[in-house]
Amino acid sequence: MEHDDPGEALAELRERRLGALELLQAAAGSGLAVYAVWALLLQPGFRRVPLRLQVPYIGANARQVEHVLSLLRGRPGKMVDLGSGDGRIVLAAHQCGLRPAVGYELNPWLVGLARLHAWRAGYARSVCYYREDLWKVSLKDCYNVSVFLAPSVLPLLEDKLRAELPSGARVVSGRFPLPTWQPVAVVGEGLDRVWAYDATPGPSSTTVPRTLVSQPG
Ligand SMILES: C[S@@+](CC[C@H](N)C(=O)[O-])C[C@H]1O[C@@H](n2cnc3c(N)ncnc32)[C@H](O)[C@@H]1O
Repeated sequence: MEHDDPGEALAELRERRLGALELLQAAAGSGLAVYAVWALLLQPGFRRVPLRLQVPYIGANARQVEHVLSLLRGRPGKMVDLGSGDGRIVLAAHQCGLRPAVGYELNPWLVGLARLHAWRAGYARSVCYYREDLWKVSLKDCYNVSVFLAPSVLPLLEDKLRAELPSGARVVSGRFPLPTWQPVAVVGEGLDRVWAYDATPGPSSTTVPRTLVSQPG
């Protein structure tokens, strides 16, 4: 752009500089915000978890929750959500009759939030949220398991599920399927898709409880 008046050109140059400066400030500001979220909200939960096993929080949407429930509704036995986030799946599971419903979550802020949601819904004493590393909890009495985890950790999760789940247990995996298990049912489309699996336990798992033998789910 040509300017006859040097004053005008200088003014435009100043404006342009201001624009770049503003852009830089905005970038620094959002970088700082991302870091603050990471440092305050996510990092406390992940401090003791190897990088390759870290899964960030992305809560299930209403459709995903409904798909989980449609695959677990009416089943007996304990229900757990591994990496329960703000507890929405556990709360919904309890409300649809799955008892006990338990969430394991590493991030203390999310555990607190989940307890707050349960309290506000009037279920503070009925649902349980524990601040636990999902890789360290025992699954030997879990008959209904939901997971919304990253594809990178699912192969390792398969090994854990196979080694620990009792016979008759059902696993539902949201967003991504377990890599080698054969699903018995699939509901939803795209990222709302949820896969259901009937566990085929390894040799160290427990035997089938009587209550589950006659109820295929
Ligand atoms: C994708 S979010 C799913 C949250 C919840 N299940 C839902 O669908 O609304 C995964 C959650 O797993 C938690 N998480 C990741 N690694 C974990 C671990 N090792 N032990 C417990 N929770 C973990 C994260 O903090 C996060 O809240």
